[in-house]
Amino acid sequence: MRLTESFWERAYAQSGFCWGLEHSQYAELIMTTVERHACVAELGCGYGRDLVYLARCFPEKRFAGIDISATALAMMAPYAQRSGQMPMNVQGIKWDVRSERPVPGEISERATCYLCHSLVHLLSEGERGEFFAGLDAAAKPGSQLLISAYSTCDTRFGHGCKVAEGTYRCSSQFPEAEVHFFEQDELRTELVAAGLQVTQIEEFEEVEHLGEERVTSLYLLAQAEVAKAS
Ligand SMILES: C[S@@+](CC[C@H](N)C(=O)[O-])C[C@H]1O[C@@H](n2cnc3c(N)ncnc32)[C@H](O)[C@@H]1O
Repeated sequence: MRLTESFWERAYAQSGFCWGLEHSQYAELIMTTVERHACVAELGCGYGRDLVYLARCFPEKRFAGIDISATALAMMAPYAQRSGQMPMNVQGIKWDVRSERPVPGEISERATCYLCHSLVHLLSEGERGEFFAGLDAAAKPGSQLLISAYSTCDTRFGHGCKVAEGTYRCSSQFPEAEVHFFEQDELRTELVAAGLQVTQIEEFEEVEHLGEERVTSLYLLAQAEVAKAS
């Protein structure tokens, strides 16, 4: 089963701050890229654990957080207020990245950097293709994309119920989730097929809170660019 809006609404209503109360390792890795941009959008931001962190680190920049779940977006202010004030430079927007335009028009007018942590491995191959191609079409020329997805080196790869090549139902937290694990070449090929220019793919480790469990996950981080206007 692919994860629908009602799935995510239920997940956040039942599980609350389910990805933990700290920003991710991904957020640390992308800081130097974020530093170069005045307006940054995160796609699939959840309750904003990374956006709140980045917005506090860079109060002079603007951040937009896009998520399919209104419940997750409503949790952003209470999340921030656990450790201070809600930063004024973050805006949450309810949007489905599988829409024809994966980002609303006003964001694509302003943002030059797009973050996407821990979402694309939950999309089907067809959805990923449309999402990447839509981003290539919607984002300003020269925009930078920082996309993470589970690696085939992750310990869960090959476990659980196989749904398709590289895709398994293997999550103890969300058993219905179909999770795809990527080889570097596969992720690169999908991004390039959508017209994006891949500058780097690296692997990183992140300790994730999945319900009661703490799991060390292995991710790929792809850095890509929308071609500059000629
Ligand atoms: C695994 S969570 C990661 C959340 C956040 N990036 C983090 O690391 O805390 C995936 C997020 O993507 C959102 N999401 C899933 N499908 C989406 C879609 N089609 N459009 C926008 N957001 C989506 C979910 O609501 C969820 O918040």
